[in-house]
Amino acid sequence: MKTASHTINIDGQDISFTKGQTIMDAALAANIYIPHLCHYPGLTPHGNCKLCTVNIGDQCVTACTTPAANGQQISNNTTALNTTRKMLIQMLFIEGNHICPSCEKTGNCKLQAMGYHLDMRDERFPQFYQRREMDASHPTILLDRGRCIMCDLCVRASREVDGKNVFAISGRGVNAHLIVNSSSGKLVDSDIEASDLAANICPVGAILAKEHGYETPIGQRIFDQHQISEIDLDKKLHEDD
Ligand code: SF4
Ligand code: FES
Repeated sequence: MKTASHTINIDGQDISFTKGQTIMDAALAANIYIPHLCHYPGLTPHGNCKLCTVNIGDQCVTACTTPAANGQQISNNTTALNTTRKMLIQMLFIEGNHICPSCEKTGNCKLQAMGYHLDMRDERFPQFYQRREMDASHPTILLDRGRCIMCDLCVRASREVDGKNVFAISGRGVNAHLIVNSSSGKLVDSDIEASDLAANICPVGAILAKEHGYETPIGQRIFDQHQISEIDLDKKLHEDD
């Protein structure tokens, strides 16, 4: 019996996929980089950041949540899409307190690395100066909501990998914020542990390990040495974390 071929085309390149894969899964497996911040292999895709938006004809879809389907003609690495992606990054930068030169996450931060990847030279929009609560209650983990980009990775990691339910996102739009599911709403009263994936998955400097600051000198960090596209294709970031 003849097996049906499963092929999609991304920017002119035919790649095969297996049933059940999303466009993102198929692209990464074929070593094609689609910019992303809220996708993490093994976690249920959520479609939060919209950076992975690609075109299928006139349609815009998020590659991380859209199943690959035979014959799709997909545009990914285009000037128009990358310009829109840069704007999304600029909006994330002005919405939060991203103090790159003095943030412990500098050089390991995926938002900062994405800014470099998309050639972001300025913030473009006026700063929001949002006031979001810091939670330093836990002995080994710091939560600075001022840098949270609402990617939902810690929420999914806690539920799906750690078997806990430490985090949730509450509210919508500019009122969206990360909450901690504990009696006091503080991390110290939750069951999070430093070894949990949820404590280590944050792509920015919103969830940080205490007492390990600057152990890796600036200049020797992941994105000081590599492009984000290289790291995401190698999945080295996840191993190094
Ligand atoms: S704290 Fe970090 S991992 Fe959690 S939603 Fe915010 S940016 Fe994402
Ligand atoms: S990676 Fe697809 S929406 Fe964030």
